[in-house]
Amino acid sequence: MAYKVGYLIGSLSSESINRTLAEALISVAPEDLEFTEIRIDNLPLYNRDLDTAYPAEATALKEAIAGSQAVLFVTPEYNRSIPGALMNAIDWASRPYGENSFDHVPAGVIGASPGGIGTAVAQQGLRSILSFCNARQMTAPEAYIQFNPEAYGDDGTVKDEELKKILTDFMQEFRDHIARVLTVLPRS
Ligand code: FNR
Repeated sequence: MAYKVGYLIGSLSSESINRTLAEALISVAPEDLEFTEIRIDNLPLYNRDLDTAYPAEATALKEAIAGSQAVLFVTPEYNRSIPGALMNAIDWASRPYGENSFDHVPAGVIGASPGGIGTAVAQQGLRSILSFCNARQMTAPEAYIQFNPEAYGDDGTVKDEELKKILTDFMQEFRDHIARVLTVLPRS
């Protein structure tokens, strides 16, 4: 049986290096992980006035998370934090009060940046947010990816062998983490 993983890309850019990273991660993932992108680009700005009348896009976001057995965040760092678009999506998914979509969900965090810290600060911030949202995060390994375009193929694969091993290990551990969490916290 495959585990359904919904992945969220923190960037809305058509040229996103984090989308490239997400494709690379999927290319090296264990075969029993099945991936679906959970889109965040169509959401209005969160407003609690709408908690009693959620927009269709936000309802679809919550349903997509509910239909996933795990979520994977692949995000850039913006101004030493996560992009507003991703925070907005998390705000929608965490509400209305008492209907937090991330409760007990197995979660993984990774990201790429052209700079040397490779989204480390953004990832730490995201971990704090996900802790509050009671997601069951994989805490290790961490992966702060400094993006080198030459390491990736045009077809979503990884050319660089060292990077390939890092990403493969990350996804294997993520798979094992999902299996462990679902053993004690099964999801339908
Ligand atoms: C950035 N960038 C950036 N990089 C970083 O390592 N730390 C940071 O704090 C920031 N801050 C930041 C703010 C804003 C508003 C932008 C637009 C960019 C650079 C960023 O890593 C780079 O643009 C990546 O290419 C963004 O990821 P995607 O969109 O290509 O996936």
